[in-house]
Amino acid sequence: MGLEYIIAGVCDYILEINGRDMNKGFMVVFDGSNGAGKTTVIKSVEKYLSSKGFDVLLTREPGGTPIGEKIREVILDPSTPEMSFMTELMLFGAGRAQHIQEKIKPALAQGKIVISDRFDAATFSFQHFARGIALDTITKINDLALAGFSPNMNVILDLEPSEGLKRVHSRGEGLDRLEDEKSEFLIKARNGYLTQAQQAPEKFVVIDASQSKQKVLTDVIKVIDSLLDKHG
Ligand code: TMP
Repeated sequence: MGLEYIIAGVCDYILEINGRDMNKGFMVVFDGSNGAGKTTVIKSVEKYLSSKGFDVLLTREPGGTPIGEKIREVILDPSTPEMSFMTELMLFGAGRAQHIQEKIKPALAQGKIVISDRFDAATFSFQHFARGIALDTITKINDLALAGFSPNMNVILDLEPSEGLKRVHSRGEGLDRLEDEKSEFLIKARNGYLTQAQQAPEKFVVIDASQSKQKVLTDVIKVIDSLLDKHG
């Protein structure tokens, strides 16, 4: 019997005694209105999963890789309001292609749970619903970037954009190029998330982010537990 069979057997045994397949990676995206509390929620979810022994990879879009982070700087730079909508869309697509190839797929192959702060649903919300770029153009660019890949679940932290921006201001943060858009833009983006969630309930969960932090977290952990039951 080869060494690899022995190792595989030992791994199966460990998985069996743990009662859960720790080698099966899956990906959850946290997305939604700006200022809805994604960062706090993601940190708590990471703690929760790590305490259960899961290997977690936190990442974000735009960004996630060295190339992606450079693209992020270009996209969000408030000093270049002249960026065309198509340039913006393609930059998001370029960053995503790199992100999936360099970081996400290898992590999933290693059995990690990938948690991303935004992903492809944001492109539909912001570039289609808010910017007004045609749906088939968005789909083309996204499909090129995704190349058949799809996250397992999108958790939308839903909040009225005016409330979200208040929170951004109260943290003393400046607005990036997209947050600096008219309030109507952020309202359209929010409705974009809600529309996507209605159209694909199997891929989206909407959580009311205007609730107390504790209640938001309780709702999020329920979603994570059901994903663990399904994929773990
Ligand atoms: P963040 O501030 O949550 O990191 O997100 C950066 C901004 O980029 C936010 O305003 C949403 C926007 N965005 C898009 O417009 N399209 C996308 O595909 C992604 C990933 C983000």
